Amino acid sequence: MPRTIIEPFRIKSVEPIRMTTREERARLLEEAKLNVFRLRAEDVLLDFLTDSGTGAMSARQWAAIMEGDESYAGARSFFRFEAAVRDLTGYPFVIPTHQGRAAERILFSVATKAGDVVPSNTHFDTTRANLEYDGVEPIDLVIPEGLRPRSRHPFKGNIDLDRVERLLAERGDRVPFGMITLTNNSGGGQPVSLANLRAYGDLLRRYGKPLVLDACRFAENAMFVKLREEGQGGRTPRQIAQEAFSIADGCLVSAKKDGLANIGGFIALRDERWVEAARNLLILGEGFPTYGGLAGRDLEAIAVGLEEVLHEDYLRYRLRTAEYLGEKLLAAGVAIVEPTGGHAVYLDARDFLPHLRPEDYPGQALSCALYLEGGIRSVEIGSVMFGKRLEDGTETYHSMELVRLAFPRRVYTQSHFDYAAEVIRELKARASEVRGVRIAKQSRHLRHFTAEFRWV
Ligand code: F0G
Repeated sequence: MPRTIIEPFRIKSVEPIRMTTREERARLLEEAKLNVFRLRAEDVLLDFLTDSGTGAMSARQWAAIMEGDESYAGARSFFRFEAAVRDLTGYPFVIPTHQGRAAERILFSVATKAGDVVPSNTHFDTTRANLEYDGVEPIDLVIPEGLRPRSRHPFKGNIDLDRVERLLAERGDRVPFGMITLTNNSGGGQPVSLANLRAYGDLLRRYGKPLVLDACRFAENAMFVKLREEGQGGRTPRQIAQEAFSIADGCLVSAKKDGLANIGGFIALRDERWVEAARNLLILGEGFPTYGGLAGRDLEAIAVGLEEVLHEDYLRYRLRTAEYLGEKLLAAGVAIVEPTGGHAVYLDARDFLPHLRPEDYPGQALSCALYLEGGIRSVEIGSVMFGKRLEDGTETYHSMELVRLAFPRRVYTQSHFDYAAEVIRELKARASEVRGVRIAKQSRHLRHFTAEFRWV
């Protein structure tokens, strides 16, 4: 049996991508003020900015789109979507939203109050920001291995149960529910084991607290469980995902990831407690409960996507993509977060550019250099994203300086990844020429999206 893991699809519709010259890229990057968020997408060759909403839909999804029922209330497309979510999660109450952060904002508004504390392995930025907006303290309690880029623990997304227990014992009255992110995006796309999930669920239950999954990448997590967790190899990814949902009491999902859709999200819940209040907020900000900010056709595409994403050949190829690029980079002596996660490869910019100091923003400098070298767009996950300029003008820096290459689903082929590996390898050989950057202009919140930079 051949060992090569292929892209398990053939291509029916193509979109050209454009090569630019180095001179053009230098000019475009200057115009973008050395911030790749400010580039036009058509000036990018390989766009690894995010895996969110950037995937390719299948022929079945496009066919379902034509079946979209655009009725305001009670559309057939909603019931199809609701059935797909119920079948996957086992939760009877399904609330559609336009994307993941809308689901967060609604659930947190109805289920938390100022002064509360919500633990997770690592809260994603929007999750954290939505909790903080409500006066709630988000607490990250990932296991220590989850913070060590070179630790090869198989489930670096696991939550530290001892620290959760301490939190529940000391401040349990402040905890409305526990959360956990599958896979742990901010920690490198690392999976959570079923054993850890079960123990976390049991612990919360002993204190009478529900468990809510941030399940954007539930399918990638299920495949890691199948491949790595003892006794799980003979089960289907669907059975594993269903078990994960069965352990929890509800979930928040951005369908832009493992929903294989370009837009959408949902809240799904096991019991009625938060449902009425959430639906009332939905009507206020998103739309009627049977469309929640989406068109009927979007609901159709998600219903199909939630089924397709659990196909084992797809998931095998999906996880292999990051692993394949990771192997090539490690062979070239490039430091990355190991083992590779489900949706992205994270470069260690501090190791790549050892001549740069924290105030040179090595992650930002590396993301600029990747674009200049080969037209590749990535995203800095370091001190530009998580550092701050304080009132007195001094700066705080992040513990890691990473650059994330996140992979749109079913979009790029193996030769694109060979090309990316080659670009990074060649850049590594001339890394000492890469200059640092300074922030020329920044906003107060979420500065990485809009900040302007200059070369040192
Ligand atoms: N939770 C996680 C774990 C996420 O990764 C994201 C989005 C969200 C929630 C919010 O969902 O974008 O639909 O509102 N992550 C994207 C990324 C933006 O690039 O990692 P959303």
